[in-house]
Amino acid sequence: MSVSEDRMVDKVLNQRKVMSSSLRSIDEIIRSRKTSKILSTVPLEGGIPEAELAVMMEIAGMAPFHIAVSPEHRNGDATTCLVPWRFYVVPKPACLAIRQYLIEAQDKSKVPDMLAATDTLVQVTWCPDPVDPGFETTERWEYCPSRNNMEHIAASAAAVQNLLLVATQRNIASYWSSGGPLRSESVFQLLNIPQNEVLLGSIFLFKGDTSAEDVEIKPGKMREKKGALNEWCRWVNEINTVTNAN
Ligand SMILES: Cc1cc2nc3c(=O)[nH]c(=O)nc-3n(C[C@H](O)[C@H](O)[C@H](O)COP(=O)(O)O)c2cc1C
Repeated sequence: MSVSEDRMVDKVLNQRKVMSSSLRSIDEIIRSRKTSKILSTVPLEGGIPEAELAVMMEIAGMAPFHIAVSPEHRNGDATTCLVPWRFYVVPKPACLAIRQYLIEAQDKSKVPDMLAATDTLVQVTWCPDPVDPGFETTERWEYCPSRNNMEHIAASAAAVQNLLLVATQRNIASYWSSGGPLRSESVFQLLNIPQNEVLLGSIFLFKGDTSAEDVEIKPGKMREKKGALNEWCRWVNEINTVTNAN
C-alpha cells in the first residue's frame, strides 16, 4: 500500500470513529432527555449567555420542514422566513417581568414559580394557514384541520425536540409546557408575538443549581407511561393481498 493510500485508509477509519462516537452520543442524549419542571417561590439568580442561546436556537432550527408558511407570516420580502416555526427567546430579566405581570393579574397557575426559577423561556409558535371562509372559530388560536397545518405543526415540533436535545447536551434542564397563561393574548402582546401565530410550547430552560433550597423539581407526568416498544411499533413483513381501500 502506498503512503497516500495508507493516509486515505486512516482518514476513512478516523471518520468512522468520529461518526460512531457522535452517533452513540446522540443516542445517549436522546435517552437522557427528560422533563424537569423546576419551580421556585422566589426569583433565582442565573441566566444563559446570549451567545450560547444563539447557537442552541440555530441548531434547533436545523429541523426538517416541507410546506412554506403562507405569505402573511413572512418577514421582509416574500421569499424569507419560510419555516413554519417562530422562536421567541425570553432571557431571565424579561421572564421576571412577565412573572410580575402574572402575579399582579392574580394568576393562580404554577407559571409564576416556573418563571422565577427558569434561566430562559422560549416561546415557540407555529404559523397556521389563513382560516378558510366558513370555518367557524371561537378562539383566536383555532385553525383549519388541513394537511398543510398538520405539516407545519410536525416540522415545528421537530424544531422543539432539537432544542430539548441541544439543551440536554449542555446539561440544561428543560420542560415543554403547553403554556397556560403564556398562551394568552396579553402575554403575546407583552412579548410582541403576532396574534395570528399559535403557541406550540413554552420551553423552560434551567441551567442553575437544582439543589438550591427554594427549588422544587417535578418530572413529567407521562414519563413512565410510554409503554413498551411493541405497543406502538410493529414490523410489517407481509402486506395484505386484498384491500378495500381505494
Ligand atoms: C406538546 C407538549 C405539551 C406539554 N405540555 C405540558 C404541560 O402543559 N404540563 C405538563 O406537566 N407537561 C407537559 N408536557 C410534558 C409532558 O408531561 C412530558 O413530556 C411527559 O410527561 C413525558 O416525560 P418526559 O418528557 O420526561 O419523557 C408537554 C409535552 C408536550 C410534547
